This record gives sequence, C-alpha cells and structure tokens, in this order.
Amino acid sequence: MEVRKLRAMAPLLDSYISYLDDGNQPFTTPGHKQRAKLLDPDLGRVVDLDVPLYGGLDEIKLTRGLLEQAEGLAAQCWGADWLRFSTGGSTHANQAIIFSLGKPGDKVAITRTTHRSVLTALVLAGLEPIWMVPEIDAATGVPIGIPLREVERVLLEDPIALILTEPGYLGTLSDLPVLIEAAHKKGIPVIIDAAWGGHFGFHPSLPPHPMQLNADAFVTSIHKALPGYSASAIAVARTNLLDHARLEQGFESTHTTSPGGAALASIDGVRALMQLRGPELIENLLANVNNFRDRLTSEFGNDILLRPEDFAAGRFDPVKLILRANMLGADGIDIEKDLISSNIRVEMADRDTLIFEVTIADDSSTLTKLADVLIPILRKHLGRSRNSATALSWTITPQRGVSLREAYFGKSELVEATNAIGRVSVDLVAPYPPGVAVLAPGEIITQEILNGLLESKAEGTRIAYATDHTLTHFRVLAK
Ligand SMILES: Cc1ncc(COP(=O)(O)O)c(C=O)c1O
Repeated sequence: MEVRKLRAMAPLLDSYISYLDDGNQPFTTPGHKQRAKLLDPDLGRVVDLDVPLYGGLDEIKLTRGLLEQAEGLAAQCWGADWLRFSTGGSTHANQAIIFSLGKPGDKVAITRTTHRSVLTALVLAGLEPIWMVPEIDAATGVPIGIPLREVERVLLEDPIALILTEPGYLGTLSDLPVLIEAAHKKGIPVIIDAAWGGHFGFHPSLPPHPMQLNADAFVTSIHKALPGYSASAIAVARTNLLDHARLEQGFESTHTTSPGGAALASIDGVRALMQLRGPELIENLLANVNNFRDRLTSEFGNDILLRPEDFAAGRFDPVKLILRANMLGADGIDIEKDLISSNIRVEMADRDTLIFEVTIADDSSTLTKLADVLIPILRKHLGRSRNSATALSWTITPQRGVSLREAYFGKSELVEATNAIGRVSVDLVAPYPPGVAVLAPGEIITQEILNGLLESKAEGTRIAYATDHTLTHFRVLAK
C-alpha cells in the first residue's frame, strides 16, 4: 500500500507516527506532554498531536541521526550538497542563506520584487542592496522577471551575490539560465527565493527547479505549492561558490532550538511522496487545472486567466490560477467577499487580481466546486473591462538617502504625507501586485512617488507594508 511505502522511505515521518503509537511518557518539552486534552478538550485538539524533534522524533541527544538522514535523502532528491529542513518557513530559510554570504557592508544584486523576509535578512546581515527592476509584460501588466541587461548593469558594481525571486507571486519567471550564466562568469553565486516553486522539477511540463538550472542556492516553502505543514521549508545549496560552514552557521544561528516534529516529518513525507508519485500527481493536477481553465474561458473569454501562452515558453507556472478581475470589469474584493460567504478562501485578492492556490492536494472535485461557485459570482459582478493599475512600481527611479541598515535602525517618526516629501523612508512601500517596492528603507520620498502612491491607492490598489496603509502618514527617519 502506498502509505506504508511512503513511511518506509521517510525516516522522520515514520518516527512521528511511531512516537504517537508507542505511548511514551515524556518528562521533556513540550509542556503539553500530548495530554492537554485532560486539561481542556479543545486545547487538546490543537496540541496533542504535536511531537518535538528532541525527545520525540529522535532522542534528546539526536543519537539516532534521523534528521540528518532525512535531510540527506532530500539533498539527493534536489541534487544539492547542503540541505536543511526549516520550521520557520521560507522567511527563515532566506535568512539562513543570506547570513552565509559575505560580511556587513558587502553589496548584493537583488530584485525589486523581493519578499520582505529577504530585505529583513539583508538588514540583519548588514548587506546593502543594488536593486534590479523587473521587465513588465505590456499586455497583462505582470512583471516577467529580471532582464539580462539589468543583471549586466548591476554586475559592474561588484555585488557578492545575485538574489532573485523565482517564480514571482503571479507565477512568472526570468530567463534563469542566461542570468545564472552571467553571474557565474563573474564568479558570484545565484540565490533563488523559490518560495512558490516547491513543485518545480517534478514533471516535464513544469519549470525545472533551481539546482537543475545550476543555481547555487534556493529556498522553497513546503507548505505553499506542496502539501507540507504550515511554515515548513527547505534551504538548499551547492557549495562551489558558497561555504558549507557558513551555511550551517547561518542556519543554526537563526533557527529555533525546539523544532516542531510535524513540520519536519511533513517535509520528509512530501519529499518521499514526490519521489514516489510526483509526476503522476502533477499530471492529474495539470489536467484538473486545464479543465477549470476551459470552463472559465469558454464562459468569459481567454483573457480572464493568466495563461502560459501569454509568456515566453517555460516562463510561467502552468498550475498557477490567476484571475484578472479587471478584464471582467469586476472588483476582486467583491468577488472574494462572495466566495468567503460560500466558504471558499483565496490566496490573494485585490481589486484587479485573485490568486487561487492549487496543489496536488486538489482534485477534480475541489476545482469543479470552485468553478460552480465562481462562475455565477463572476456573472453577477461583470462590468466594463479596465487596464491593470500597476504602472507606478516600474516607473520610479529610487533615490538613495541613507543605507538600508541606517534607515532600519535609525530613530523614526510618523509625519503627514505632505511633510514626508524630501524625507527618508523607513518603511518598504509596495503596491500589490506586483509587489515591486516603490520605496525601500533608506530611500527619499519624492512628490512624484507620493502622487503615484495616492493615485494607485485611489484606483483601488492595495499598498502593502507601509506603517500607515491609508497613506495619510509616512514613517520617516527623524531629523
Ligand atoms: C517570495 C516569497 N518568499 C518568502 C516568503 C515567506 O515564506 P513563508 O511564509 O514560508 O515564511 C513568501 C511568502 O509569501 C514569499 O512570497
């Protein structure tokens, strides 16, 4: 039976189940001792299946070496020579890898679409960004990755690493082989935040994973595109251009010392599942996604979902379902409200865009249900189509005031929007999507930026990360 086979291939998953079955009597953490139901049944439902790594999956002294064994199996699976399991999400995995690069004051070339976890990691590590701006697809308004000329431009400034986000939040990818080659010609490593690309490389119709493309390191969330436990992630590297000891130090100095066994066992189990049945499960997923696409496009036209054909071959994740509410003349937030009333939750919704995260845990019944509920809602909200309102993020040329680190640790104050002009932003401010920062910490707030942000907001774009997201006030460096 497949379930038993999976357990035999996944030492941490096996140990997790054995621990629960064997009736242990712990005098260790966690304090619930898998007996919280005796204190309160509801609390018990939440915590009693929680088994720690130390004293649970393995002995307190890790004498059985099960984590190392499971990480070794995963390293083989992804073709890496260093791989660690994180219970702190891609947020922590990004930190771990960024901590292993260089020293405070060094510069890294980094995409402007970077997730804030990477930015925070740069602040903590004392690295300074040299920003790269993505190219935007004129037809869809979607960022389609960093062009080679942008990488060639920043390489002239001698960064110690190239840091990319691939795929982007909307499923698009840069032309990675040429970017990786350009960085390697300069002898610098390429780090890829592939938080949303955990399924890549497991089917010929999906993009390859970063190790297959010769990248030096990547992180991915096992709980996003793969069926892992919340906040489970892997940090993965090859050590030609990266240092094994520094990677280990970066990981250990930022990870919890009490990792939850469920996250670890789920990474192990998901890796085994993908090795055992990945191609077959993804084949089914692709078929279900294509049926869903056919139903929606036959009703509302080809433009209402982003399609692989909208982009260069291999530059879009074919299982990504992105609904373009603007093409229907509908407000994505209204659509989301109606979906929530039908007990359907979406990954992201703003005025123009809704993201439905689908994975191998979906099947024809979940996607049929989504289409059955969604189609009447979309009919109800049909209006006059409009262009996507995302232009601001790539028309801005950032003006550096102080370093990222100085801004982050500096004394700050909230000032009214009009008084913020000419001042140094302490916040990252990014219209979402595309999530491209209009302001990064340390950059100067100009009249053009303020006007642009206010206009985007008035058009209904969500302005992410700003302390005051109404944009009445801005958090700036105190004088
Ligand atoms: C590109 C990117 N990187 C990193 C993260 C952080 O991932 P996690 O939630 O697993 O910590 C996210 C989360 O959405 C993300 O979109």
